[in-house]
Amino acid sequence: MQQMPEERLRHVVIGIGGAVFTEHVPALALPTVEVVAVSDINVEKGKQRADQLHCAFYQDYHQMLAETRPDVAVIITPPILHASMTIDCFEAGCHVLVEKPMAIQVAEADAMIDAASRSQRLLGVIFQHRFRPEIRTAHKLLQEGLLGNIQRVDLTAVWTRSHAYYAQAPWRATWAGEGGGVLPSQGVGTAGTLEIDRGTLVVELLDMDMREYAANSPTTFGSPASRRNPMILENGNGSHSEAYQSFHNAILHGGSSYGDGVQGRMELEIANAMTYSSYKHCEVEFPLDRQGYADLLKDLIQQHSKK
Ligand SMILES: NC(=O)c1ccc[n+]([C@@H]2O[C@H](COP(=O)([O-])OP(=O)(O)OC[C@H]3O[C@@H](n4cnc5c(N)ncnc54)[C@H](O)[C@@H]3O)[C@@H](O)[C@H]2O)c1
Repeated sequence: MQQMPEERLRHVVIGIGGAVFTEHVPALALPTVEVVAVSDINVEKGKQRADQLHCAFYQDYHQMLAETRPDVAVIITPPILHASMTIDCFEAGCHVLVEKPMAIQVAEADAMIDAASRSQRLLGVIFQHRFRPEIRTAHKLLQEGLLGNIQRVDLTAVWTRSHAYYAQAPWRATWAGEGGGVLPSQGVGTAGTLEIDRGTLVVELLDMDMREYAANSPTTFGSPASRRNPMILENGNGSHSEAYQSFHNAILHGGSSYGDGVQGRMELEIANAMTYSSYKHCEVEFPLDRQGYADLLKDLIQQHSKK
C-alpha cells in the first residue's frame, strides 16, 4: 500500500545564529518541516542562515510571528529568554519546541505550561539524550515496573566542558544568563535520563527484596544473590531530529511528545531545588517554594553582576 506523505508543518526558528544551529540542521530538513522564516538580533549571521535554509529573515521575532503565522516556533536563544519568547509564541497561536533548559527558574516553567494550556498548543523541550537506545530501554524498563521501587539512582555525566566552551557567549554559566552553570545547563538533560553505562544496559535483578534482605540477613557485608541480564536495546540515536519527530507526531497524531513541558519542568525543579538546598543549607520539599527560589536567584544575580 502506498504511504500518504506526512503533512508539512510551517516552522520558524528564533535565535538561528546560535552555535546549536548545526544540531538543528538535519531536523529542519525532515519531511514534516517547512521552514518559512528565521529570526536573530545578529543580522549578518541570521541572514546567512536564512539563505542557507532558503527562507525569510526577520530581526524582530514579534514581526515574524505576526507576518508568517507559523504552526511551530523553535526557540534556540539563551535560556534567560526562553520563558518570555515561549509565551509570546503561544499568544501568536503556534506550538513551541524550546531548547533545554526550558527556562532558568521553575516559576517560569509554570507560566509556560499555563500559556500552552490557555492557547491549546503543545510545548516540547529538546532532550535529545532521551532518544539514545540505552536511555529508551531504561525508560521502558521503568515503565514496565521491572526495576521495582527505585531506592537510589547514581548519575554521572561524563561529558567535558572546557573554559573555551563557557567563553563562547557572555550568558553562559552566569546566574543572570542561565540561572547558574553546569547544573541547569549540562545537568538538565542529564537528570532526565537513567544512564546505566554508555551504549549498553545491564539489568541486575535481585533474588529477594532489598528491604527484606537488609532486615533479616545474618551477614554484615553481603548482598542478595542476583542475576545479570544484558538487555536488547531499543532503537534511537539521541539526535535533535528524533526530538522534532516526537513533537511532530504529537501535533499531527495526538498524544504528548517525549520531553514535554511538564517533564522539562521536573528537571528544572530538581536543579533549582539542589541550588536552593546548597545555598540555604536546608532540606527542600517539593513542590519547591517558587517565591523563595525567585528571591534567592535575584540575590545571586545581584551578587555576581559586574559593577
Ligand atoms: N540540546 C543540546 O544539546 C544543546 C546544545 C547546545 C546548546 N543548547 C541550548 O540551546 C540554546 C542556545 O545555545 P547556543 O549555544 O546556540 O547559544 P548562542 O549564544 O550561540 O546563540 C544564541 C542566539 O540567540 C540569538 N538571540 C539573542 N537574543 C535574541 C532575540 N531577542 N531574538 C532573536 N535572536 C536572539 C543570538 O544572537 C544568538 O545568535 C541554549 O538554551 C542552550 O542551552 C542545547
